Amino acid sequence: MSRKRASPPIRHLWRFLSNLIIFLCVFLCLFAFVRLHFQSSISTSPSYSALHYHDDHHFEGPPKIAFLFLVRKDLPLDFLWGAFFKNGDAANLSIYIHSEPRFVFDETTTSSAFFYGRQLINSIQVVWGESSMIMAERLLLEKALEDPANQRFILLSDSCIPLYDFSYIYNAVMSSPKSFVDSFINIDEDRYDPKMSPAIPEEKWRKGSQWIALVRRHAEIVVGDDIIFPVFREFCKEFGFRFMFPWLTSLQNPHNCIPDEHYVPTLLAMSGLEDELERRSLTYTLWNHSAMRNDTKSWHPITFDRDDASPQEIKKIKDINHVYYESENRTAQCSINSKLTPCFLFARKFTYGAAIRVLTMGLVGPYDILALTKATASKRKSKQYT
Ligand SMILES: *[C@@H]1O[C@H](CO)[C@@H](O)[C@H](O)[C@H]1NC(C)=O
Ligand SMILES: *[C@@H]1O[C@H](CO)[C@@H](O)[C@H](O)[C@H]1NC(C)=O
Ligand SMILES: *[C@@H]1O[C@H](CO)[C@@H](O)[C@H](O)[C@H]1NC(C)=O
Ligand SMILES: *[C@@H]1O[C@H](CO)[C@@H](O)[C@H](O)[C@H]1NC(C)=O
Repeated sequence: MSRKRASPPIRHLWRFLSNLIIFLCVFLCLFAFVRLHFQSSISTSPSYSALHYHDDHHFEGPPKIAFLFLVRKDLPLDFLWGAFFKNGDAANLSIYIHSEPRFVFDETTTSSAFFYGRQLINSIQVVWGESSMIMAERLLLEKALEDPANQRFILLSDSCIPLYDFSYIYNAVMSSPKSFVDSFINIDEDRYDPKMSPAIPEEKWRKGSQWIALVRRHAEIVVGDDIIFPVFREFCKEFGFRFMFPWLTSLQNPHNCIPDEHYVPTLLAMSGLEDELERRSLTYTLWNHSAMRNDTKSWHPITFDRDDASPQEIKKIKDINHVYYESENRTAQCSINSKLTPCFLFARKFTYGAAIRVLTMGLVGPYDILALTKATASKRKSKQYT
């Protein structure tokens, strides 16, 4: 009897193992296929039509600004926003938060009662740089549209701060009949995929900051859109499939596209509404210009830490009165109703320490030092955010 021949139990094991490997391969392929398929068919656009809202525009009381927070988990700068809202008028504002599914804002997760229960119950898992991000924006807008008093819709991140008190921002935003949407022509970056044509012609392709402030009609258009969104979901992706087959990255999608930097400006351009926009963001972001274009660091904004948030630095941001758009060789003087104004009402990205400094500068108005101490204490107790 040859020793070299595998004994029957070992042969069985071999067969079992090879079957298992084949099974696993088939399963993984199926899984990948199903996932790909689902990505383009699940989380479809809300079935709302823009018309849905048109007969329901009457409301009592003052017009409100809806503050829409798009956050990863909690709201690290809640104490600053809490002071901001406290100096405002509760009748003039509403708050909505899109956080990770099942994250609840209550006394254990936030120091500001303004945020209690304000999370969306139908929130989705957001993957940064994917179309789930614009889906989350649409869910926020959809929810906020349910209140007919909401007339302006401002999208904010968990690192955004206000640069003025509530009254100033309320009056500035309300006095304009236009939306504030950063939007410029951007063809040299190769993010436009010709497969998007004819649904999205290349001449309507726009880029701009995700941080928008919309009038109600434009919010309705974003929520009601079921033509452009599916095209984005299919063709505007950050190098797809990276999660599973990293070595396929370069084959998968040469158009490394970040949906949230293109969706709203492109949709509004396609809708022929650019005349109804101030084509700039109200939210200041500092990009690292010394970083190389091919360096991933240059894709992320610079964060303001405690030491960077000096009164001089904040004043520099508030004094900015024009924006230069390199790709269009266009300088935009910032204005509202043709009257020149400072460009920015909000700024990002600010750390907890920087925001404390901003609060104690009195930027958002008077603040309660006791509440601040309480917030700091509870922050220290809870886990550090990232
Ligand atoms: C609230 O809204 C009313 C009506 O638009 C306005 O007159 C008032 O100044 C607003 N309050 C604040 C604190 O901005
Ligand atoms: C900007 O990018 C350069 C090069 O990557 C890096 O050395 C520098 O630290 C960055 N600056 C800030 C403030 O992040
Ligand atoms: C980025 O590009 C510059 C010049 O274009 C090159 O010198 C540098 O090595 C590149 N860096 C990386 C990380 O590819
Ligand atoms: C940008 O426009 C200005 C005047 O409008 C012109 O003088 C300049 O040459 C232009 N620059 C580029 C790079 O096209």
